[in-house]
Amino acid sequence: MSNGKRIGILTSGGDCAGLNAVIRAVVHRAVTTYNWQVVGIEEGTHGLLDRPVRHRVLLPADVDGTMLRQGGTVLGTTNKGDPFAYPMPDGSKKDRSQEIISGCRELGLDALIGIGGDGSLAILRRLAQEGGLNLVGIPKTIDNDLGLTEVSVGYDTAVAVATEALDRLQPTAASHARVMVLEVMGRDAGHIALAAGIAGGADVILLPEIPWTVEGVANRIRQIRAHGRNFALVVVSEAATLPGGGKARQEFSDGQKRYGGIGGYIGHLIAEATGAETRVTVLGHVQRGGSPNPRDRLIASAFGVHAVDLIAQGRYDRMVAWSNRKVIDVPIADAIKAYAAVDVDGTLVRTARGLGIYVGEPMGDPVA
Ligand code: F6P
Repeated sequence: MSNGKRIGILTSGGDCAGLNAVIRAVVHRAVTTYNWQVVGIEEGTHGLLDRPVRHRVLLPADVDGTMLRQGGTVLGTTNKGDPFAYPMPDGSKKDRSQEIISGCRELGLDALIGIGGDGSLAILRRLAQEGGLNLVGIPKTIDNDLGLTEVSVGYDTAVAVATEALDRLQPTAASHARVMVLEVMGRDAGHIALAAGIAGGADVILLPEIPWTVEGVANRIRQIRAHGRNFALVVVSEAATLPGGGKARQEFSDGQKRYGGIGGYIGHLIAEATGAETRVTVLGHVQRGGSPNPRDRLIASAFGVHAVDLIAQGRYDRMVAWSNRKVIDVPIADAIKAYAAVDVDGTLVRTARGLGIYVGEPMGDPVA
């Protein structure tokens, strides 16, 4: 190995399409261009807590063939168990950060590439600072809420899946003269709902960022019927605010809470307000699985190559990002700070309103 570099790579947080394409790109660039060794760490930071550390050396032969196209992450991931407040079996929380740092040291890593969203990158950065690790971040999240990058790995595929869902809901909606409600993911950001709603010809798009009323939704549906159309498509972001305030959440058997369930409320309210027959589809994790689309494959590949080049240049504590048709890099801290919600005065909201889509209040400003 020239330079003798040994770099680690892990995926952290919720999975999404394109993670394997990133891993593939990192392995190719690191091994083929620089002749380094790449160590894949299993199940995010959890792999670093176990002894022996769960890892495997990745070679170009391992990542060729199907990996570019493959959904999920071959390394596994986790979106629970903050190492600084790790949930223990007795219900207490324990700081296990030093175990992770020593896990990295055991692997003899010169640098670590962490693929994650804002939460994961914040944790990895803190670990890197406390443990003197050389970290480079790669943004991934279907929510597309990380700042300073126009796009994160996984977002485009999630939008494509949600758009396809609307394409499939439209004919059945028309056949039965129904209002179809599609609930999509996105956490506190409405990017998936807005983009898929426009691309999929929705009549109503409800976002966490914009207040909306049942009357506003009902009026749009009445208007559609008055013009002779017998169906309507409604897209709702999982974290859109409920009419009485608050968010719809679900609690799982292990006590974890996530957004979810607002589609059912809205379907009911629409039926009540308009008399329309209404059905609800909750798209859920379908948005995260499956093969990445071409744009996600491109972004993932560009990010992976650039991340390795940053290590070659000794430039750490940086996140690769997409800006103005090219890959750039920014301080990880700045990206985490610059949370990217939907721009309520931005092009897409204006486009939606321009198309007559109800996106909440105020609506209908023709020159906004
Ligand atoms: O952050 C990605 C995301 O898919 C969100 O859109 C969603 O709210 C959440 O993760 C779901 O988490 P889990 O996979 O734990 O159910």
